[in-house]
Amino acid sequence: MCGIVGYVGRKEVVPVIIEGLRRLEYRGYDSAGIAIGGPESALLQVCRAPGKLQKLEDVLHDKPLKGTFGIGHTRWATHGRPTEENAHPHRDCTGRIVVVHNGIVENYLELKHELIGKGHKFVTETDTEIIAHLIEQIQKDAEAGDKPISLEDAVRQAVKHLTGAFALGILSSAEPDKIIAARLGPPVVIGVGEGEYFIASDVPGILHHTRNMYFMADGDMAILTPDGVTLTNFAGEPVKRELQRIQWDPIQAEKGGYKHFMLKEIWEQPRAIRDTTLGRFSLDSGKVYLGEMDIDDEELAAASSINIAACGTSWHAGMAGKYMIERLARLPVDVDYASEYRYRNPIPDRNALGLLITQSGETADTLAAQREMKNLGSKTVAICNVVGAMVAREAHGAIYTHAGPEIGVASTKAFTSQLTALFLLALKLGQLRGRLDKEKSVALMEELSRTPAKIEEVLRISSPQCEQLAKDFSNARDFLYLGRGIHFPIALEGALKLKEISYIHAEGYPAGEMKHGPNALIDETLPVVVLASRDESDPASKLRYEKTLSNIQEVTARSGRVIAIATEGDTTIGQLVEHVIHIPATIELLSPLLEIVPLQLLAYYIAVRRGCDVDQPRNLAKSVTVE
Ligand code: F6R
Repeated sequence: MCGIVGYVGRKEVVPVIIEGLRRLEYRGYDSAGIAIGGPESALLQVCRAPGKLQKLEDVLHDKPLKGTFGIGHTRWATHGRPTEENAHPHRDCTGRIVVVHNGIVENYLELKHELIGKGHKFVTETDTEIIAHLIEQIQKDAEAGDKPISLEDAVRQAVKHLTGAFALGILSSAEPDKIIAARLGPPVVIGVGEGEYFIASDVPGILHHTRNMYFMADGDMAILTPDGVTLTNFAGEPVKRELQRIQWDPIQAEKGGYKHFMLKEIWEQPRAIRDTTLGRFSLDSGKVYLGEMDIDDEELAAASSINIAACGTSWHAGMAGKYMIERLARLPVDVDYASEYRYRNPIPDRNALGLLITQSGETADTLAAQREMKNLGSKTVAICNVVGAMVAREAHGAIYTHAGPEIGVASTKAFTSQLTALFLLALKLGQLRGRLDKEKSVALMEELSRTPAKIEEVLRISSPQCEQLAKDFSNARDFLYLGRGIHFPIALEGALKLKEISYIHAEGYPAGEMKHGPNALIDETLPVVVLASRDESDPASKLRYEKTLSNIQEVTARSGRVIAIATEGDTTIGQLVEHVIHIPATIELLSPLLEIVPLQLLAYYIAVRRGCDVDQPRNLAKSVTVE
């Protein structure tokens, strides 16, 4: 949520920042701005534009800026409309100090009134503007007392007054070639090049310049100059962070010939799942290796239950994970929306394991739930796609998904990688709790290792079908998605994909609940997507399938138009419904990984037909770093 890029070094700064912002635009695209300093101008030059980054580029094309250091920002509006005035960077009264910010200053009104009382004039509706004024005031007070202070000292004092969450990039024309970064909440990475240094909200913003990065921790401040980076805490004491080498291939963050990142990421799923399983199990020993765990096997085996907290798509993965863990390990699992977790006054249980699922690892609600779990005495494990992200650092164990950077705002490959990680966790817990012997474990692992190839088949076969279905259904006003058991979260996820990128109203529903109300919605205009795959070898799956067939008949009897997702070889379903998409047979617990693919493609092709901005849907941002 909001993207920040800063640069100090020998290169011409504008292209570095604009290129970085383009790679971070998925974090926010309401407006964009840039502030540049250099020998040619005594004051920092600021340029801003409402709307997408391209608008800012157009302005810069007409009025080019030059400089050696600078910061830029793409905004996802929280306080104040997405206008040019409200676009970052924001300035103090003198125009000397500029600030870009990701997060929310919760006490900004209080601070604003105090500063107005001291003669400050504000020109925006944002919370961020007060930070520039606060720094100005602190430096002014210090000068009045004949003890002028540096920009970094003023920032250190300023952040003590702020409550809420912030990632900051700050420049002052009085101290050229210097960038200050501060973090409390939203992420900041620092890139280390040769004689050049970068700040960014996320790795892809600077990965094409350097792979060597520091991940700032909460309470860290960084001072970047062409001579190096100094890291301190807010009290000014030096802190040491490990310089990490990022292994991602920068090409992974490019569209690679696809029309949209989302489409590329849908097609990348077989690779993402292979990478997530790589080295995680042995077909010889039947053992599962989850990775970076500070929790030993005895402790895992002794867990009394699991509390999952996550948001959006990651929450849907958690719902499916509940079925996996309860079935394979017979361990009770609760799944909460992270934003709701602490409001239900959870009952403390030191033996309950907290499980956070988050692609970005920086979702504020998920981090808040993690903190609450820890306060209640639980150990936490994070399933996360970003190495070194906050959630993983705060957890007792991290199971990284290896989906690679996900740029499309609608999550696709991160979701199927999360399902993969959850399946591995369920296997591990099943073994530790004596529910799975070697033979069963190996059979499950073999089926997991066949899954990427099955997804390749689903992609190949269902892609043209979904493109065709999109022609028939792109004008629908509403959609229903139905599923039972582990297929219900996939119905929810299918509906979420459609609504977020095509703006068609869509609801996911447990198939059996239809008769308790939603049947009233059905008529000949309503497309109903039904998840109706089956595992012939599993009696529970067969029963679920039969009940789902009855639900399909209830829909068709009321003239609803059904699109069914069914297993290859199922000839019954084709006689009942208008459209069938077949997927290869697999076990019940892995079928979500196949079923979701046509739903992603259907949403994608419908959104494209409706002319929607697939990768950057309105009002959304990739990482939601405010509660
Ligand atoms: C939907 C989507 C969101 C995210 C949610 C959580 O396609 O991407 O619903 O799943 O904002 O984000 P993470 O997983 O980063 O915590």
